[in-house]
Amino acid sequence: MGKHYYITTPIYYINDVPHIGHAYTTIAADIMARYKRLQGYEVFFLTGVDEHGQKAEKTAAERQIHPKDLADTMVQTFTDLWQMLNISNTGFVRTTEERHKRVVQYFFQKIQEKGDIYLGEYEDWYCVPCESYFTELQQQEGKCPDCGRLLERLKEETYFFRMSKYTEPLLRYLEEHKDFVLPEVRYNEVYSFVKGGLRDLSISRTSFSWGVPVPGNPRHVIYVWFDALLNYLTGIGYLENDQLMADFWPCDTHLIGKDILRFHAVYWPSFLMSLGVELPKRVFAHGWWTVDGQKMSKSLGNVVSPSEIASAYGVDQFRFFLFREVPFGLDGDFSREAIVHRINGDLANDFGNLVSRSVTMIKKFSNGMLEQPGGPGGTDEHLIGRTVGLVAEYGKEMESFGFHKALASTFDIVSLLNKYVDTEAPWKLAKDNRARLQTVLYNLWNGVRIATLLLHPFMPQKTDQIWKAIGIGTPIGTASQDRERGFYYDAQGLSSIENIPPLFPRIEK
Ligand code: MSP
Repeated sequence: MGKHYYITTPIYYINDVPHIGHAYTTIAADIMARYKRLQGYEVFFLTGVDEHGQKAEKTAAERQIHPKDLADTMVQTFTDLWQMLNISNTGFVRTTEERHKRVVQYFFQKIQEKGDIYLGEYEDWYCVPCESYFTELQQQEGKCPDCGRLLERLKEETYFFRMSKYTEPLLRYLEEHKDFVLPEVRYNEVYSFVKGGLRDLSISRTSFSWGVPVPGNPRHVIYVWFDALLNYLTGIGYLENDQLMADFWPCDTHLIGKDILRFHAVYWPSFLMSLGVELPKRVFAHGWWTVDGQKMSKSLGNVVSPSEIASAYGVDQFRFFLFREVPFGLDGDFSREAIVHRINGDLANDFGNLVSRSVTMIKKFSNGMLEQPGGPGGTDEHLIGRTVGLVAEYGKEMESFGFHKALASTFDIVSLLNKYVDTEAPWKLAKDNRARLQTVLYNLWNGVRIATLLLHPFMPQKTDQIWKAIGIGTPIGTASQDRERGFYYDAQGLSSIENIPPLFPRIEK
């Protein structure tokens, strides 16, 4: 039995086009998926779309189309974007799929049989864009405490889920699993929310019909969040593929934005506990992007389109920027100046330049061929010692979504290597010390190889291009732990090293 890793993104609402917030969560999951694959894991990476609910129904009505038609059009926009951004997902759920409806109805019915669902009446403040109820205490002058839009007063017959029953079990679970929610500030948020006591949750609606019908009472549709959360089971073959379930459940990481934390870290585990399904291992909530210092919104007209940015600056450059710029977990601000600054600095000057001068020197001084290194001299030991330490640091950070620090370690390696070139001056050695030259070129090449491998999850295309240019005959995505991850690499059997066109052209302002 090999090692398995299951990671998910939220499923995105189809009433709107994707923006950088959506791209951010999905690229982050892709980075982790690629990293784990390099570590030898079999990875299941799930994403999808959330098609039901009042918001979708409303948007479709405004356009005078059926919500399913709206979804059919929008789903394409999402999948096109994921393809463009090189997202390596292995599963995709649409909540209108039959296999998903079956899971939702089954789950509902089983919980009901258990006595955790009862019929009652609900009256409270409702936010349609957030698809959420708020209490008198939570509402802020008739506005949604999350998004600030106007709330509606809603009263309806509804099925309740006995969430209150799970206050104690969930508290205990949180106490025993301090890393169930990350980062720590989010854990604390969840903990104190649960500590305050959970209220029973309304999980059906009668005021609209675009959803999965409640089994046995089709006047009700199942609450869109109950429906949506279950995609994480549908996607991994629940009720359908026992082997897949056995291999990948419990899920290793639900990656989400901080705005949907409560659904994932409170509601979702309560539903699962009710049915006796094992809880996911981790929920990681990242921060939010603003644009030029402002909240992104349609009314401000400042919504950033990921495909537009990726076409303007490059897919890998865009992916890299998002995680180099802002610590994953904190909020960040997007601006064109910032992305240009990162591309010109880190990518063009530092990394790109390192790769091209290394390749050029190996071509020029050694005919594109490498030899095994001789004993250490010059600053070799410093370079190697520091690099080994930084690679370990990178690994530790990647394990806990410390993408920002992992990239910082990688760029420390890049700058060590740039200094190494200046200090060891291969162009001088080429004149009078061929043996030492071979060692220096090898160390340089090997450092470039390592930095490239570490950057691969972030920039899959560019790193693959470099991999080929530095003479490794297999695609970088299949790099295996044993052969390519260690510091020493057998340079025999490499193909000749080739010049590459500039990887990250400077962007003139
Ligand atoms: N459909 C629900 C999720 C159901 S999961 C069972 C949903 N969809 S969403 O389309 O509104 O948003 C999905 C993700 O986009 C969330 O993780 C959210 O945090 C993220 N973002 C939306 N705007 C964002 C920013 N401005 N910045 C960063 N991420 C943001 O919620």
